[in-house]
Amino acid sequence: MRILFLGDIVGQPGVTFVKRALPALVAHEQIDLVIANAENASAGAGMTPGVYRQLRQAGVDLVTMGDHIYKRQEIVPVLEKDQRICKPANFPEDAPGQMFALAPARDGTPVAALCLLGRTFMRPVDCPFRAVDRVLNTLDGQARCIIVDIHAEATGDKYLMAHHLKGRVSAVLGTHTHVPTADEQIFPPGTAFISDVGMTGPYDSILGRRIDRVLSTAVTFVPSAFDVASGDPRLAGAIVEVDSATGKALVIRRIMLDEAGLAALPAVTPVPPPEGG
Ligand SMILES: [Fe+2]
Ligand SMILES: [Fe+2]
Repeated sequence: MRILFLGDIVGQPGVTFVKRALPALVAHEQIDLVIANAENASAGAGMTPGVYRQLRQAGVDLVTMGDHIYKRQEIVPVLEKDQRICKPANFPEDAPGQMFALAPARDGTPVAALCLLGRTFMRPVDCPFRAVDRVLNTLDGQARCIIVDIHAEATGDKYLMAHHLKGRVSAVLGTHTHVPTADEQIFPPGTAFISDVGMTGPYDSILGRRIDRVLSTAVTFVPSAFDVASGDPRLAGAIVEVDSATGKALVIRRIMLDEAGLAALPAVTPVPPPEGG
């Protein structure tokens, strides 16, 4: 079974590129399930229900979020009802949203996704290690394939989570810093890991935002609106091959698809997934 995991989708350039690229990429790479971190999908912070629907129709099966989860509060009713999107599992119990997201892959194998926030250089949150232990207990065998999005600043936090979970989940994949790292590997006995898969959005930018705005503010200290940039949209993520009988990861490979890469993919007619669920 092949799982495609996309890093932080940033703004309309990121959403549009996902809609254009995902059907061809899924067909070409024979992907069985798509997970995306979408905490920056609407204007760079949060996600509206409309953008959530667009991503689902584009072929995203499960959505994880991060520190920007509630920036667009319209998403709260979706977070409360929809089993395909989750809040960070180490958020307070009263924070709206599910502790994990769950859906069948193309072959029917149930796949769970969850996200955790790091605690270094970030707003204080509950212990991510104990939070993930609670989620794994709650899942109690509902899904043999479990993908954990570790949404954190510090690479050390991300490695620690991978070692806490090795052999217990299929993959621990990093998001939040928007910069892909080259440390993809499998920790025995079968947990795929990478510190950060990179963002899906405009790369002619500072982490997705307009360079001129961020640079002038950094130099002069005069605040300006950090609007989402538009140039050089790319899709960044990782493909993890999982043995669906055991849940063990066999291979992890980084993906970075730009306009030239998309043009080189064989074209397909997009088939939207069925509604609901
Ligand atoms: Fe982000
Ligand atoms: Fe984030």
